[in-house]
Amino acid sequence: MILLGCISSISNGCYTSIISFGDSLADTGNAKVLSKYDKVDPPHFLFPPYGETYFHNPTGRCSNGRLIIDFLAESLGLPMISPYFQRDGIEDVVNSRIGLNYAVASATALDSSFHEARGYNVPTNASLGVQLGWFKLSLSSLCDSFSDCRKLLQGSLILMGEIGGNDYNHALVAGKSINQIKPYVPLVVNTIISTVIDLIDLGAQTLIVPGNLPIGCSPVYLTIYAGYNSDEYDAATGCLIRLNKFAEYHNELLKIELNKIQEMHPSVNIIYGDYYNAALQFYISPNEFGFSNGALNACCGGGGPFNYNQSAECSSSTITCADPNTYVNWDGLHLTEAAYKLIYTSLFNGSYTIPPFNSLCSMCVT
Ligand SMILES: *[C@@H]1O[C@H](CO)[C@@H](O)[C@H](O)[C@H]1NC(C)=O
Ligand SMILES: *[C@@H]1O[C@H](CO)[C@@H](O)[C@H](O)[C@H]1NC(C)=O
Ligand SMILES: *[C@@H]1O[C@H](CO)[C@@H](O)[C@H](O)[C@H]1NC(C)=O
Repeated sequence: MILLGCISSISNGCYTSIISFGDSLADTGNAKVLSKYDKVDPPHFLFPPYGETYFHNPTGRCSNGRLIIDFLAESLGLPMISPYFQRDGIEDVVNSRIGLNYAVASATALDSSFHEARGYNVPTNASLGVQLGWFKLSLSSLCDSFSDCRKLLQGSLILMGEIGGNDYNHALVAGKSINQIKPYVPLVVNTIISTVIDLIDLGAQTLIVPGNLPIGCSPVYLTIYAGYNSDEYDAATGCLIRLNKFAEYHNELLKIELNKIQEMHPSVNIIYGDYYNAALQFYISPNEFGFSNGALNACCGGGGPFNYNQSAECSSSTITCADPNTYVNWDGLHLTEAAYKLIYTSLFNGSYTIPPFNSLCSMCVT
């Protein structure tokens, strides 16, 4: 009976926590704190209208409201996952009240030095290796002994990403071509895989590793590459075929490597999160999912055919749509809460994880 109850209630009670690594798709506030130490102006996503839905103030999340990780935490019966870096009174602290979310907006999988060597900067030094370093540092505050730490990892659901998308985004926005960044893909995937293996060695038992989104549907790229021949666009979605194929290439490679580590570690649950196809559903039929204002134009942005303008990014002085729930895209690059909720549902209460997420709960209920 417990087993059946567990499956139908989406794994509630299965996990003691979520441990999260990644970028803006999962950052619940790290970049917000870290940006205070940067010499540059604070990023635009720390200001309204970010956070206007649900939180009613900017939390550092790159959306109007909640992210996939917020819906996931709620469904697992957990509080929202606090950022590792957080404000504590006047001082910003690390390690006093540990948050288990290490994701940082604009983070890459590969180290910043990799990108700098190729002639462009990444805005934050928070690559996957750096995030894993923070996690290992925080273990001493999170658990007392070797076996305690293994228990913490065993009982946690590890959300490994999405990460890697920005290795490509930063390069493409800096003017690199798709052909120039194709050789990055195996390096990015290997970085994700070696981090997964590190975490398994530390005791991780259940890991979700999401792939990349269909980036050819992003207003950013539809704007940057505007004016391509019509045969460059997918007739069913209006998205850029070559960029979506590139995202699929990353995802295929990731799945192949995940299968290999699954074979090497049969008792560990390695779950691929198919963000790509979960999102593709609403690019194909936006109306069916309530996105009556279409899927390809941003809710918030500086105008133009997709309401995206690189020199006038989403802020209180740009155009913000009346109802973000009717848009897939929030600010040109990131999605709305409504879109993230649908991706969450498709993965964790649907068929877009491999293997199906729900079927794994019985393994952790004893
Ligand atoms: C990035 O952070 C890592 C880990 O904190 C540090 O070792 C490295 O020197 C930093 N790199 C730069 C360019 O600041
Ligand atoms: C983008 O924004 C800049 C700065 O506000 C403006 O000068 C420019 O005309 C805008 N471009 C388009 C295509 O709207
Ligand atoms: C999960 O899916 C089932 C069947 O499609 C549905 O009845 C249920 O309401 C969903 N639960 C959540 C939390 O979305």
